Amino acid sequence: MNKERKLIIAGNWKMNKTVAEALDLVRGLKIELTNVKEVDIVVCPPFTALAEASKAILDTNIRLGAQNMSEHNVGAYTGEIAAVMLKEFSVRFVILGHSERRQYQKESDALIAKKALAVHAAALKPIICVGETLAEREAGQMQQVLETQVRGSLAGLPKEQMLETILAYEPVWAIGTGKTATTAQAQEAHAFIRSLLGKMFDDAVARRVRIQYGGSVKPSNAKELMSQPDVDGALVGGAALEVRSFADIIKSSI
Ligand code: PGA
Repeated sequence: MNKERKLIIAGNWKMNKTVAEALDLVRGLKIELTNVKEVDIVVCPPFTALAEASKAILDTNIRLGAQNMSEHNVGAYTGEIAAVMLKEFSVRFVILGHSERRQYQKESDALIAKKALAVHAAALKPIICVGETLAEREAGQMQQVLETQVRGSLAGLPKEQMLETILAYEPVWAIGTGKTATTAQAQEAHAFIRSLLGKMFDDAVARRVRIQYGGSVKPSNAKELMSQPDVDGALVGGAALEVRSFADIIKSSI
C-alpha cells in the first residue's frame, strides 16, 4: 500500500495481561513481526507490565505506549503516573482521552488538552481519541461532536506539536461491540477531522497528521479500512490481545 503517511497500528491492551501474559504476547509479536518495516507498531500494556515489556522489545521494531498519563509532573496525586516515570521504560506514545476514560473517569476535553501538553513537554507522542456515541450519530450530531472534541482536546497545541500528535477516530458504538464502522463511515469521519485540522492549523498539518481508526478492528476488516485514503492506521483493543490476530491485522494492512 502506498500512502503519504506511514501507517501506525497500536494495540490498546486496556486492563488486561499480567506481567507473565504480557511477556508471552510481546515475545510472540516479536517473532511474527520481525521483518515489518512498512508500519509503525505500538503496544500499550497496562502500567504494571511496562518495565518487563520494554526489556522484551529492546532492539525490535515494536514501540511502547502507555494508556494514560497525569497532566502533572510530580507530587501529591495518588494513583497517577507522570511522564518521567513512563520515560524510564522507553515509552514513546501515550493514549489520551480514550472513550472509556471520558466515560468512566469523566475526562474532559480541557483535561485531555492539558495532558497532551504534558506528553509533548516530555517529548512523548500522544494518541488522542475522539468519537461519537450511537445516540449522537443517530441525532445527526457526529460532526458537531467530533469538532468539539478535536478543538477542545487540541486546545493550545502549537503546530510543531500537532505534527507529532496522532489522532484516533473511535466511534463509541464500535468499541468492543463487534460492530465496525463501514469503510465509508470511517473515511467520512477521517476526512472531516482532516479538514478540521486544515482550518485549525494549515494544509501541511492536515496532510501530515496521522489519524487511526479504532472500534472492532480485526484481521478480516483491517485491510479494507486501512485502504481508505484518510485512514492511517488502527487503534486495536480486543484483537490486540492475541499474537495471531494482532500480527494478522498488521500484515494484512501492508
Ligand atoms: P476494540 O477496542 O478493538 O476492542 O473495539 C478499540 C479501542 O477501544 O481502542
